[in-house]
Amino acid sequence: MKIGILTGGGDCPGMNAFIRSVARSAWNLVPDVDVWGIHDGWRGLIERSYQHLAPAHTAGISKLGGTILGTLRVPELKNNADLRAVVMHNFIEDGFEALFVCGGNGSLRASHDLDLMLRDAGRPRPILFTSASIDNDVANVHGTALGFYSAIHRSVEMMEWIRDTASAHRRVYIIGSMGRNSAYLPFYAGIASGAEFVIRPDERVDFDAIVDMIESRDRDTRIIVSEAYPKSLEEIRAILEHALEHRNSRHEIRTVDMGYFQRGGEASVTDVLRADWLGYQMVRSMIAGEGSAFFGAFNVGTPPNRVSLAEALDPSANYDDIPREIIDMALAMR
Ligand code: F6P
Repeated sequence: MKIGILTGGGDCPGMNAFIRSVARSAWNLVPDVDVWGIHDGWRGLIERSYQHLAPAHTAGISKLGGTILGTLRVPELKNNADLRAVVMHNFIEDGFEALFVCGGNGSLRASHDLDLMLRDAGRPRPILFTSASIDNDVANVHGTALGFYSAIHRSVEMMEWIRDTASAHRRVYIIGSMGRNSAYLPFYAGIASGAEFVIRPDERVDFDAIVDMIESRDRDTRIIVSEAYPKSLEEIRAILEHALEHRNSRHEIRTVDMGYFQRGGEASVTDVLRADWLGYQMVRSMIAGEGSAFFGAFNVGTPPNRVSLAEALDPSANYDDIPREIIDMALAMR
């Protein structure tokens, strides 16, 4: 039996642990299995670029950031039926009998499309998907995305480094965070690092309150800004500087973006363990013949949430914004 593993969308820590878990579980649980890694996400299936995996390829990779298979975004897949047909054609022709995918919303859609086309063609194959994204914005009512906790970890490290300079110079730092349209990464990074303020994407910001807060502090002030907030870091800086000037108050302000650094570095233990658990459960599901599905998990050891790919794709039913209790907790801890 020949199976494929594909990592899609933006890379994140936890992808390599997922590859290792699927490959090793398959080698140990599926007789005569051949495990193949698909190169560069969905591009690999378009260009038939694969590699045969052997146990040595998966040794010691769990904590490595990025993905040993590579990943590229292929946004054309969404609107190009011919390209999707190429994916399906190559998948069948090259003898794949199951596909294990981790990635973001684009990869979830591509998995769903491939599953549909295979079924329409009378050649159903299990397409098994789990989310991997620092944004935690993929069907997150069913589980936390792989990579999310690692990215918080990385952000907290950076926030501590910035604190040193902010404190030494008595400065205000306005700090950009990735997260696409979601507030999860900036907000959780803010809680975990004790940031003084986090601006969420859709927040109606009370800049006067921020200026009050800056004036009430003696040393460091770190304000995290979500990627999707419509004002740039420099625009926010200009607003705050203007307001402070108006009050005859002097505080140095600097801007810095955590950006791509949040995506790199080693996987957190939480992400490694959840990738192990999900990969193993997905292989078991394939063995049981349960068909294509989205798999999500919040914790290791509790049964993963298994829903259809079509259900997982519906953002209105599958994306939850930050729970109110978490926001209340952050406010209570200020
Ligand atoms: O989805 C992960 C992410 O890092 C987002 O936070 C960000 O908006 C986007 O990817 C950046 O994408 P790219 O790597 O294509 O520039």
